[in-house]
Amino acid sequence: MKKKLIAGNWKMNGCLSANEALIHALRSGLPATVACQVTLCVPSVYLAQVQSLLTGSGFELGAQDMSAYEGGAHTGEVSAAMLRDYGVRYCLVGHSERRQHHGETDAMVALKAQRALACGITPIVCVGETLAEREAGATEAVVKRQLAAVIHVNGHCISEIVVAYEPVWAIGTGKTASAAQAQGVHALLRAQLKAASSQADRVAILYGGSMNAANAAELLAQPDVDGGLIGGASLKAPDFLSIIAAAG
Ligand code: 13P
Repeated sequence: MKKKLIAGNWKMNGCLSANEALIHALRSGLPATVACQVTLCVPSVYLAQVQSLLTGSGFELGAQDMSAYEGGAHTGEVSAAMLRDYGVRYCLVGHSERRQHHGETDAMVALKAQRALACGITPIVCVGETLAEREAGATEAVVKRQLAAVIHVNGHCISEIVVAYEPVWAIGTGKTASAAQAQGVHALLRAQLKAASSQADRVAILYGGSMNAANAAELLAQPDVDGGLIGGASLKAPDFLSIIAAAG
């Protein structure tokens, strides 16, 4: 059985002192053996600090976004190669906050995933429907369209990505998808990946959206839920440690 992957998404939170305190608390609270993989997706300006704080922890370093371009005249952008310079192993692409507030299209997300793979970074491709889309019965069509764009551009490399299903209505709202709702969408995504690659069973499909210490075990017990992408609860060491324990 593949190890579960627990990814913390700090979003635009943190400062030098808070980051140090959080990572210190996580490291001192970890049991001697951790059965899952853990990554922290931190703001780019803190990559160097967090890389140093994580040395020897077994945690992997992650980023929250990257440029679709290789380099050059793209003021303000950070390239995959730059992230790789700091030892970044995972990078979120297509988080709903970037799709909603920064105009990211399916095509841009697919290019970012491709660029990440080319630099040896595993893209965590985020998909998910809004409340209006769910109520209109469009959940399946939306997540399949979002994933299809990434499959189209990345072809047989698709087994190298991680997918995160994050229903937009569950992000930061305290409303979690039920375990059955999450499993239902994860099974659809798995079938879509299988149709594209014989290696699709290798792809970790994470659930994100108000995952917390209380609901993590039930969500992570679903057959197609291979881990979690955690926002708010990843900023609180005891909560994040409980989720890590639930993934064991
Ligand atoms: P919350 O866990 O705060 O709902 O955030 C989920 C998320 O967007 C992680 O990427």
